[in-house]
Amino acid sequence: MLERVQSERTQSDRAMIEIRDVTRSYGSFKALDNASLAIREGEFFSLLGPSGCGKTTLLRMIAGFDTPTSGSIAVDGQPMDGIPANRRPTNMVFQSYAIFPHLDVEQNVAYGLKRLKLQGGEEKRRVEEALAQVSLTGLGKRRATELSGGQRQRVALARALVMRPKVLLLDEPLSALDKKLREQMQVELRRLQQAVGITFVLVTHDQYEALAMSDRIAVMFGGRIAQIASPKEIYQRPVNRQVADFLGGMNFVRAEIVEENGASLVLDTLGFGRVKTDKPKAFVRNGGGAATLGIRPERLRVLWDNATAKFEVAGKVVERHYFGEITHLIVEIPGLEKPLSVTETNDFGADDIPVGAPIRLAYDPEALVAMAD
Ligand SMILES: Nc1ncnc2c1ncn2[C@@H]1O[C@H](COP(=O)(O)OP(=O)(O)OP(=O)(O)O)[C@@H](O)[C@H]1O
Ligand SMILES: [Mg+2]
Repeated sequence: MLERVQSERTQSDRAMIEIRDVTRSYGSFKALDNASLAIREGEFFSLLGPSGCGKTTLLRMIAGFDTPTSGSIAVDGQPMDGIPANRRPTNMVFQSYAIFPHLDVEQNVAYGLKRLKLQGGEEKRRVEEALAQVSLTGLGKRRATELSGGQRQRVALARALVMRPKVLLLDEPLSALDKKLREQMQVELRRLQQAVGITFVLVTHDQYEALAMSDRIAVMFGGRIAQIASPKEIYQRPVNRQVADFLGGMNFVRAEIVEENGASLVLDTLGFGRVKTDKPKAFVRNGGGAATLGIRPERLRVLWDNATAKFEVAGKVVERHYFGEITHLIVEIPGLEKPLSVTETNDFGADDIPVGAPIRLAYDPEALVAMAD
């Protein structure tokens, strides 16, 4: 029998990176605005947000390539003020890979080891180990120019891993790869991180990448951290509309707060009636009684024939879009200012539902999330 379990956690509770009130200003512009966060030892942590939100800025300051205007950064318990990049227990993999075209794979990987002057074949052993970790064994003598994009990415990874950093910083490492290869590398990178147990900090603007790979995610907008949580919590319990919207499709329904206490909210909505939901930790009432209720398109299910559900809404299909494994329906519900988006897998004939048909949709009240406006 399949049992439902909480997903396992491999990392410890010890902080490997502590960022306290860090601001990076360029004149009056704040690329990073008073950011605080702690990344745990052994954690796969992602910084997720749209272009220009300050992800690279934060990563470069952890690496030591840039200095905070104010605030402090500690790695492995040590304050990093004044410590240059090459003396930090961190290593960075750049988006552009920055591998040397005139050197072969082994020489590229061994590059940073030269200054350690390792004895008795140790350098060679470490290079071979790093190449094995990224599945490049046997390609050591290839020139960097004779590699595919995915292989170059692996060389860049091996070159960082060979230094045995405590923290690996990855700035959009997969963005140059095509979709298939990127998905394959996401799985490999996650496996690699679990095998080596190093703390990984990944910068990405791809929400699916962050959701698929991370233990926790910090979502950033305009230099500020909006939410830090596990992928599931970020996706299912976004703290506001901006986070919800960035993490995929979300139906937003206007709501009126009727009752608010420590743990829950009672909201009045037109389409969904009166609902009671968990009050998000970060819920801050914006003056009046207005709020937003959200529900993801895949949490609405088509009710076929005479099937009923404890919680349902009724309406009419106004659009249908076919995507192979899923169908996307747009459903008008009386009283709702905007039609609902619904996604259904195509195993029950959702791809044949006619536009114009009356439809009933079931939902689990657990899937309803209250958000501050
Ligand atoms: N040297 C600089 N001088 C002035 N502004 C800068 C400088 N470096 C970065 N910025 C600004 O700081 C903001 C954050 O930049 P950053 O590179 O951290 O963004 P990002 O989140 O990594 O974006 P992307 O996903 O596009 O890489 C941007 O608005 C950028 O223009
Ligand atoms: Mg960037």
